[in-house]
Amino acid sequence: MRGPSWLRPPADANDLVAPLWSTTARKVDGVLEVGGVALPDLVAQHGSPAYVLDEADFRARAGAFRDAFAAYDVYYAGKAFLSTAVARWVAEEGLFLDVCSGGELTVAERGGVPMERVGFHGNNKSAEELTRAVRLGVGRIIVDSFHEIDRLAAITEELGATARVMVRVTAGVEAHTHEYIATAHEDQKFGFSITSGDALEAVRRVLAAPGLEARGLHSHIGSQIFDSSGFEVAARRVLALHARIATELGVELPEMDLGGGFGIAYTTQDDPSRPDKLAAEMTQIVEHECRALGIARPHLSIEPGRAIVGPAMCTVYEVGTVKQVHLDGGAVRTYVSVDGGMSDNIRTALYDADYSCTLASRASDAPPVLARVVGKHCEAGDIVVKDEFVPGDVAPGDLLAVPGTGAYCRSMASNYNHALRPPVVAVRDGSARVVVRRETVDDLLATDVGDQ
Ligand code: LLP
Repeated sequence: MRGPSWLRPPADANDLVAPLWSTTARKVDGVLEVGGVALPDLVAQHGSPAYVLDEADFRARAGAFRDAFAAYDVYYAGKAFLSTAVARWVAEEGLFLDVCSGGELTVAERGGVPMERVGFHGNNKSAEELTRAVRLGVGRIIVDSFHEIDRLAAITEELGATARVMVRVTAGVEAHTHEYIATAHEDQKFGFSITSGDALEAVRRVLAAPGLEARGLHSHIGSQIFDSSGFEVAARRVLALHARIATELGVELPEMDLGGGFGIAYTTQDDPSRPDKLAAEMTQIVEHECRALGIARPHLSIEPGRAIVGPAMCTVYEVGTVKQVHLDGGAVRTYVSVDGGMSDNIRTALYDADYSCTLASRASDAPPVLARVVGKHCEAGDIVVKDEFVPGDVAPGDLLAVPGTGAYCRSMASNYNHALRPPVVAVRDGSARVVVRRETVDDLLATDVGDQ
């Protein structure tokens, strides 16, 4: 079997492909270490599967965005992965935090993030969520519909409070991976359309509400983006609206958010940009456009999630079974079943995402075979890694580690088939500690009240 055209048989299947891993990951005699902790030792202590979070790597990536975007406010997008420990690290590293639900807001609170450094997103925040956010004094609420503007205006009036508001706009640009598409993406649930005039009207209504303080426009164009051309088109459109608001409504909004979406490397196909290069490009785009429009540059912010936490985590699994499946044409595919699957990483099934993996518990001289790593769920689409070369002697009891699982894996994990969601084990300087514990059967049944 050859596998996809981009996947090359490795010279040595024991080697790590460094750009896919957190910075402290290394192999010592074939054994994978992260944060100075050997994964077999981590599994012996904490079990498998487990998410392994490289604290130094997380902090370094957060710091790299903070420093590269020093003139901006950098909001870490908590939807990628959030726990109270991570919320605390985010605050300690000087970042702001983007939450998009009452639950994430609670984690921010418990993690000790100053509320004025929190931004609250969501296209259907409840009156209860909005009330809490206003009471807590969150730094900004990103409004997404006329109903929400009315709701928030009423809440602030009732509480005699003021809410700082950003208006989420749809720039008509959607960017994914290596490409972006302009004009065709008005047809989605987020934001106020710029072209229809709704965005301008939304700002007008925010300005008219005594309890709402209009801070600026917000645009997020997509995820796992590798080049700045989509940002360029979006920034041009959002800045044009910003200038129009100044002339037509007589208000120069002080801020603007350009969203998140910066891509990471899941496989050798991906070539992500560095934060300093992104910062230089984005700043140049905005400055050029502001000059052309004759307006002052608003204070900018961004919201990276995946690019900070994605590469900082890997998932370690134990192999349970190995099976050779004969395909039409005589090819053989090796199916390696691990003790997790779509309940801890839904991205392969949901987005056809590519991942890679490595044997984490030993070195092997066996020639590599093309394998498919699958989970233990009752579903044929329960695939973790579609295609990867692994040593041909991979066997039950081996550990496999999948890099790049920090973003949207634990945060989108489920209890499908009544699986227990794995722990998040933070590693640093040779020691490991649980920051999110493994679920127990009691957790699983806590909401099952029976037939009373
Ligand atoms: N800001 C806003 C308003 C967002 O909606 C998102 C992501 C972000 C920031 C952070 O985007 P990031 O830098 O992490 O790409 N579950 C999907 C991704 C959904 C992204 C939702 N919004 C996945 O697993 O690929």
